[in-house]
Amino acid sequence: MNILLFGKTGQVGWELQRALAPLGKVIALDVRSEEFCGDFSNPHGVAETVRRIKPDVIVNAAAHTAVDKAESERDFAQLLNATSVGAIAKEAAKINAWLIHYSTDYVFPGTGERPWSETDETAPLNVYGETKLAGENAVQAHCLNHLIFRTSWVYAGKGNNFAKTMLRLAKERSELSVINDQFGAPTGAELLADCTAHAIRTALTNPEVAGLYHLVASGTTTWHDYAALVFEEARKAGIELAIKKLNAVETSAYPTPARRPHNSRLNTAKFQDNFGLVLPDWETGVKRMLAEMFTSASL
Ligand SMILES: NC(=O)c1ccc[n+]([C@@H]2O[C@H](COP(=O)([O-])OP(=O)(O)OC[C@H]3O[C@@H](n4cnc5c(N)ncnc54)[C@H](OP(=O)(O)O)[C@@H]3O)[C@@H](O)[C@H]2O)c1
Repeated sequence: MNILLFGKTGQVGWELQRALAPLGKVIALDVRSEEFCGDFSNPHGVAETVRRIKPDVIVNAAAHTAVDKAESERDFAQLLNATSVGAIAKEAAKINAWLIHYSTDYVFPGTGERPWSETDETAPLNVYGETKLAGENAVQAHCLNHLIFRTSWVYAGKGNNFAKTMLRLAKERSELSVINDQFGAPTGAELLADCTAHAIRTALTNPEVAGLYHLVASGTTTWHDYAALVFEEARKAGIELAIKKLNAVETSAYPTPARRPHNSRLNTAKFQDNFGLVLPDWETGVKRMLAEMFTSASL
C-alpha cells in the first residue's frame, strides 16, 4: 500500500511518519519537498502530486495553524486550509483513494458546557475556524472515502509547546496568571497519529466507517489546571521552580486578534464506537510527554 503524507514536519505529521510506517510505503512531503509538490499554497501542485503518486491513502497533516495570524491573512488561510484540500480531495476521488484530514473544535462557537457532537451546528468564531470548516466541506463534497478528525489543544514533545513555555516562565517568575475559562482536552500528536493508523486499517476493510469524527483525549481541563499539573510534575521530578503563585484569570485578561471558544469539549463516542478504540485521559499523555522532557537534554 502507498500512503502519501502531507505536512510531515508538523506536530501530527512528524508522529504520523512513525505511526503510518507499518501500514505500507509512506511518501512523506512538506512545503519544502522538491521531487513532489507538498506546498498547500499551490493547489495545482498538490493535485499534480496526487496524480503522479497515485496513493491508496492520503493523510493531510498540513495546515495554516497560526490562529491569530489567520485573522489578517484570510485568503492565504483559505488557500491552505480549504482550496488545496479541495484540490487533493477531487484527485483522491478520481483514483478511489482514501483521504484522511484533520480539523478542529474551532468550527464551533464555544458556547455552553456540553461536549460537542459531530451533528451539532457549526459557527466558527475566527478565520482559522472558518477556513478549517471550509476544508471539511470540501473533503465531504468531493471524496466519499474520507475520514475527518476534529481535534483540539494538540501538543507534541517535538518543538515548542504550552508545557515548555509554562516551565520556562515558572523558572523565571514567582507569579503567573493563566486562563481558566476555556475548557478542553490536551491531545497528544502521538495519540492522534496512532489512532489515525488504526482507523485507516479499519476503513480499508469497512468503508462504511467513512465520515466525520471527534478525536481528542478523554477528560477536560483548563489552561490554568494544565499549567498546575505541569508544575506539580516538575516538582516531583526535582526541578526547581521560582513560581509561588498561579492565578486563574479570564480569557479577557489576554486579548488576542482571534476570538477563542470557551467550550472546546468534544464528544468522542462515535470514534470510540466505530473504531473499537479507547481514548485515554488527557493526563496520561501529558505526564508521559513531561517525563520525556524532564529526562531529555533539551530543557
Ligand atoms: N495544533 C492544535 O492545537 C490543533 C488543534 C485542532 C486541530 N488541529 C489540526 O490538526 C492538524 C495538524 O496540526 P498540527 O498541530 O500538527 O499543526 P502544525 O504543527 O502547525 O503543523 C502544520 C504543518 O503545516 C505546515 N505548513 C504550513 N504552511 C504550509 C504550506 N504552504 N504547505 C504545506 N505545509 C504547510 C507547517 O509547516 P511549517 O511549520 O514549516 O510552517 C507544519 O508543518 C491541522 O489540520 C490542524 O488544523 C491542530
